[in-house]
Amino acid sequence: MPTEQPKKYIEGQPQFLFQHRDVEGYANIDTYMKYGGYDALKKAVTMDQDAIINEVKLSGLRGRGGAGFPTFIKWNGIPKNWDQPHYLVINADEGEPGTAKDRELMNKTPHLLVEGCIITCFAIRAKSCYIYVRGEYMEPAKQTQRAIDQAYAQGFLGKNILGAGFDCDIYVHMGAGSYECGEETALMSSLMGERGMPRHKPPAAPLPVISGVWQSPTVVNNVETIATVVPILNVGGAEYAKYGTGAPDASPFTCSKGTKLVTLSGHVKRPGNYEIVMGTPTRDIIFGLGGGMLRDDKKFKFMIPGGSSVKLLVEEHLDAPYSYEGLTKAGSLLGSGGLMVFDETTSVPALMARLSHFYAHESCGKCTPCREGTNWLVKIHDRLLAGGGRPEDVDILLDICNNIEGRSFCPLGDAAAWPIQGAMKYFRHEYEELARQGMAANRRTFAPLQMAAV
Ligand SMILES: Cc1cc2nc3c(=O)[nH]c(=O)nc-3n(C[C@H](O)[C@H](O)[C@H](O)COP(=O)(O)O)c2cc1C
Ligand code: SF4
Repeated sequence: MPTEQPKKYIEGQPQFLFQHRDVEGYANIDTYMKYGGYDALKKAVTMDQDAIINEVKLSGLRGRGGAGFPTFIKWNGIPKNWDQPHYLVINADEGEPGTAKDRELMNKTPHLLVEGCIITCFAIRAKSCYIYVRGEYMEPAKQTQRAIDQAYAQGFLGKNILGAGFDCDIYVHMGAGSYECGEETALMSSLMGERGMPRHKPPAAPLPVISGVWQSPTVVNNVETIATVVPILNVGGAEYAKYGTGAPDASPFTCSKGTKLVTLSGHVKRPGNYEIVMGTPTRDIIFGLGGGMLRDDKKFKFMIPGGSSVKLLVEEHLDAPYSYEGLTKAGSLLGSGGLMVFDETTSVPALMARLSHFYAHESCGKCTPCREGTNWLVKIHDRLLAGGGRPEDVDILLDICNNIEGRSFCPLGDAAAWPIQGAMKYFRHEYEELARQGMAANRRTFAPLQMAAV
């Protein structure tokens, strides 16, 4: 008897991005066009630029790169009557631990990204687009370049596209494998050949849409955000917005419309990338799509719902809607959509130690709280795990986090502090236990204290 294949999506939920991902040859332009590829571009060039932006507004699309900023507001920020060149920069850095959705989009559906880039360039009056790909993503970069070459050959890129008097070029630019270069201002610096360090943001400096790469108006968007523009134009913004959460008249900052790609990983039976409608209970992603806990005899312990930079959540949050608002209400963030699941065998301090090493390694060193603080987080975690911990280490860790959070030049500092702050909220006892074991192991060093305990 053939066994039933597990579903890659939840019954009844639309697949705006992944509908054809497993179709043989879909990365080729011929197959892509057989399934309606480049129809959205053909429609876009007959529309007024503001009408395209309006469709994106109606769709409720918010940035899928981590911050959830409404896409149409960013696009509308581009000056309309400036002679200066405008640029579109695609953030394909995807360095957030636990996130691999953009990789799958670029590998399997690269024309969705390329078509989205061309439409966006048309809408924001840009003639050049740079796709900034993380250094390790050789295959996604290759697939994207192939798709670009095919789009040129078909007349969808280059001069006078589809006879609409619109010119557009796309360039793939490889980063050198730095997490910080995913931060949009550091990315722009890196793209221009400077050090990958962040720049000032408003009110200290103008927004990238006013002064971005080469001091010109620039829109920076994530791969998934721009790929989503294609189905939005195909079905219409209002139709797209029928899915997800938030009232039709909700502010663009307080709704979660359409679908989201989620990278499910960790102690689950079926890790992978899934497209879900925003607001789906997190439990359905883990236990439905993911097949539940990897080992049947091990219980769920906690999850990190939006890439390693957000606070962890526990069992009581399993029914939280997977949406911007749902996860914020639960005490965490949707972030980049990297949902990591951990069973009862996981040591929280050991995991936090691993993350601290990552953030200390990726800190660009520009500001003191992050450069020094992340190093101290590593040292104290390592000391605790090596059995040399002291009771005061637990509060020192929290104190360091509080001095990094909100005091760093860019959000990487917060990202290093938040997971530990979240861990302490639910699993402080694991840190205290480590510190106690450290005291016992080092009783000669701390003899007076040990005697007092006896
Ligand atoms: C340390 C750091 C790393 C980031 N890495 C990425 C990344 O890899 N990909 C991404 O799209 N956004 C990343 N972001 C968010 C970007 O700064 C920016 O908000 C995003 O590219 C905007 O695109 P969106 O509006 O389409 O989400 C990162 C932010 C920070 C602070
Ligand atoms: S917080 Fe400071 S040191 Fe850390 S990555 Fe940002 S600018 Fe660099």
